[in-house]
Amino acid sequence: MKKIGIFASGTGTNFDALASSEQIKNLADIDIMVCDKPGAKVIKKAEDKNIKAFVFNPKDYENKAAYEKEILEKVKDLDYIFLAGYMRILSKDFLEKFKGKVINIHPSLLPKYKGIESIKRAYEAGEEYIGVTIHYVNEEIDGGEILAQDKFKVDYTKSLDEIESQVHEVEHRLYIKTGGEILKGEK
Ligand code: GRF
Repeated sequence: MKKIGIFASGTGTNFDALASSEQIKNLADIDIMVCDKPGAKVIKKAEDKNIKAFVFNPKDYENKAAYEKEILEKVKDLDYIFLAGYMRILSKDFLEKFKGKVINIHPSLLPKYKGIESIKRAYEAGEEYIGVTIHYVNEEIDGGEILAQDKFKVDYTKSLDEIESQVHEVEHRLYIKTGGEILKGEK
């Protein structure tokens, strides 16, 4: 059994998808959910699943090194960290300690549309396909080796909201599938 942590900042639908998945639960213990936004919806989702949460406010710390030190203390035994809408860049130091063990999901077909509002930008650009990428994390925003992608052809009779929901469904499915492969050592 592997031991994993999930880092999130917001709603936590990807957190919920992973934490509810029988496939993931059979392969790993979700040891901790780390959140940098007190009050975020994901915190209640962790509580409902009896998953320990470490919630911190970066403003309460002198600098990034100070809060990352505290996070590291809590995650040092983990096999993998899955970022699920964690809106903070991990430092070089942190990533060096977790080389090849930090994975992220991003709602675009990387390398296109890095950063925020990726779905909106792809939709407004009239992209034929919109999709999702799972990748290893390095210091570059939404950089790092790509592990998996999935996409669908955009139906422009649908609103942006509808397309966003469609992207999130793809995300949840792909994160479970790829997460499972990683935990089984297939990736
Ligand atoms: C997802 O679209 C994820 O790809 C991105 O942030 C969003 C988080 O959504 N990195 P949620 O909190 O998992 O619902």
